[in-house]
Amino acid sequence: MRDVAIIGIGMMHWGELWEKSIRDLCVEASLACIEDAGVDHIDAMTIGSMSSGLFTGQEHLASMVPDYLGRKHLPATRVESACASGGLAVRTAFLEVASGMSDYVLAVGVEKMTDVSGGMATYALATASDQDYEAFHGVTFPGLYAMMARAHMERFGTTREQLAQVPVKNHANGSKNPHAQFPFTVTTEQVIGSVMVADPLTLLDCSPITDGAAAVLLAPAEKARKLGKHPTTVITGIGQATDTIALAQRKDLLQMGAVEEATLRALSMAGRSIKDISFAEVHDCFSIAEIMVIEAMGVVPAGQGGPATLDGYTAIEGAFPVNPSGGLKSKGHPVGATGVAQIIEAVTQLRGAAGERQVAGATAALTQNMGGSGGSSVVHIVEVQ
Ligand code: COA
Repeated sequence: MRDVAIIGIGMMHWGELWEKSIRDLCVEASLACIEDAGVDHIDAMTIGSMSSGLFTGQEHLASMVPDYLGRKHLPATRVESACASGGLAVRTAFLEVASGMSDYVLAVGVEKMTDVSGGMATYALATASDQDYEAFHGVTFPGLYAMMARAHMERFGTTREQLAQVPVKNHANGSKNPHAQFPFTVTTEQVIGSVMVADPLTLLDCSPITDGAAAVLLAPAEKARKLGKHPTTVITGIGQATDTIALAQRKDLLQMGAVEEATLRALSMAGRSIKDISFAEVHDCFSIAEIMVIEAMGVVPAGQGGPATLDGYTAIEGAFPVNPSGGLKSKGHPVGATGVAQIIEAVTQLRGAAGERQVAGATAALTQNMGGSGGSSVVHIVEVQ
């Protein structure tokens, strides 16, 4: 396998983008990425999108995106793994470059979610849960994560204030991110006092409904080093894993097996331990998710995610910064784009270009993208080499 580098990154300000169609989003992110790379050559594309059909009526993105990017006849593949579709698009592009099949592969993640009603968006998202045993009975993702939150509180004594610290921290980080959908800060009282969505999770515990795209250009590390435009950021490890799609089928409601396995695989491939990682971008689709993910990744022991977050362990200036971008909570969560944007934050930080939200001395980043209630996960390790 060849070493693979990320030579270009591109995204736009995320939010409710009425004036832009799904094709506009893909093209804008891709052009920004090509400009950043300084390489206007693409051999192939991968596109991650969870449900462009239900959200916009547009399927067949593997034809539409190259077409509107002016790259007719390019080989292109769309991949889907619910909210982990973006991470999977990067993994698929990685495999194509690593294998020697192609040199320059563009990975684009996209979701245009706000053109439908809130009810329809909730329905579209719930298609990633188990239809027979979850969605049919009316449970939604806020409901599923609320069950995990309750169980975590019962077993480990996790408090409401500890949960609320996740959005407090991530909005503080996102307020320094020009791409963020909600770049405002929030207090613990505001999080706890915001409207109830699924007890104990309130509005400010939830990631939002978002329009957005993100793109990265991958190339052999050998070629990347010759470009010299940016520090060379290499994908040194990738882990992908799955778990039961339905929460009820898990032996333990509080064990995120896909996250554990994907993290172990990525670290093992990179020859690293979690202690070698400078910071992580993780899938905080709900406040409880970030707490459970940092436990599953081995950043803190099981049950310690809440206290560690409240103590500032995962703050930008803490021992193990988590979500310096603002995470899904503040930056937004256009589901198919999230995994690609996590890689963009990793590269931005490793280039030392994150401005006010820079993690001091960052040399190795971990990104963790998750599908559904943990039914799939994709983890990348990115290092400056
Ligand atoms: N965080 C902060 N503010 C939010 C927000 C969020 N997650 N979601 C909406 N808002 C704001 C809106 O900007 C709006 O503000 P305004 O009145 O000043 O304009 C207000 O709250 C109401 O917005 P609205 O769009 O009516 O909210 P909603 O009740 O329809 O949706 C949720 C809120 C939490 C239910 C929705 O965002 C949601 O379902 N989130 C989870 C998405 C999800 O499951 N993703 C997949 C994860 S696996």
